[in-house]
Amino acid sequence: SEANHRIARISAHLCPPNLQMEENCGLRQANCRGKGGAPGFKSFTFMMLSTPPGVTADISHMDTGAVVRGFLGQPQLESALTGMDLVIIPAGVPRKPGMTRDDLFKINAGIVRTLCEGIAKSCPNAIVNLISNPVNSTVPIAAEVFKKAGTYDPKRLLGVTMLDVVRANTFVAEVLGLDPREVDVPVVGGHSGVTILPLLSQVLVKPPCSFTAQENEYLTHRIQNGGTEVVELSKECLCHLQAKAGAGSATLSMAYAAVKFADACLRGLRGDAGVVECSFVGISELPFFASKVRLGRTGAEEVFQLGPLNEYERIGLEKAKTELAGSIQKGISFIKK
Ligand code: LMR
Repeated sequence: SEANHRIARISAHLCPPNLQMEENCGLRQANCRGKGGAPGFKSFTFMMLSTPPGVTADISHMDTGAVVRGFLGQPQLESALTGMDLVIIPAGVPRKPGMTRDDLFKINAGIVRTLCEGIAKSCPNAIVNLISNPVNSTVPIAAEVFKKAGTYDPKRLLGVTMLDVVRANTFVAEVLGLDPREVDVPVVGGHSGVTILPLLSQVLVKPPCSFTAQENEYLTHRIQNGGTEVVELSKECLCHLQAKAGAGSATLSMAYAAVKFADACLRGLRGDAGVVECSFVGISELPFFASKVRLGRTGAEEVFQLGPLNEYERIGLEKAKTELAGSIQKGISFIKK
């Protein structure tokens, strides 16, 4: 019954690439409050940092049953966050052609720190979906901020690696000639280059499949470089089609993946059974590692073992671990220093 439905509040922060964080953390936010979200939720709140106020109006036109409200400026961050159950952070600058995700560290690290300080203060029990790159470092940053504030619960801090799974499902389905919705590829490790480790030996599909060495190589490389593929192709667009200035990394597939992951978190919060997704969490064998997790009322309630790996994946895992260790340390040092 409706009385049993818990209230879920969601917030998302988008920081436009052309703005300085110091001036714009939490600057302009659209807040939607009302009925909506995953079935069973009585209401949700959705907030966005946005460039033009038109974005607030834009969102308000969606027939979701949510009421849209705008917030402006860092002073309103507290009101925006208070009472949230789920906070989604895609804030920060996107990369441009020729850049790695790590090149974004300098700017995005500070943005993530500021937002997480706000979360620790205003909604310390919220589940946090962290999308801002470099995820391999920003999640450790968030963890350190929460530790400092005494609010850290590793089950509630989730790095979003869903886009790697989305890409893996698409590319594997292409090779197999299947509908991507029938394919489920676990992708573990992290969210950058060789740390993105698709476990192609564990693809869930009917009938069960296997890949040739050449297919393994092609798919792993394509999945690991999916983000760069978008960044580099947007450069082509700029040259040949005069596409909008500032085109950079994935936005649409990223938004799709973010929604997919947030929806899974909401289903977990609601108490649905068997909600399992991959996420970069601090409750695995490495300090942080993307694994399959079961999402529940308190966040990532169970982390699944990697399962049997083939030789190709074992080699990939060692490479991923080495690179991850450096990125994690970089995030931790940023706060500790
Ligand atoms: C992606 O995977 O598309 C995102 O992490 C953005 C990027 O910079 O690649």
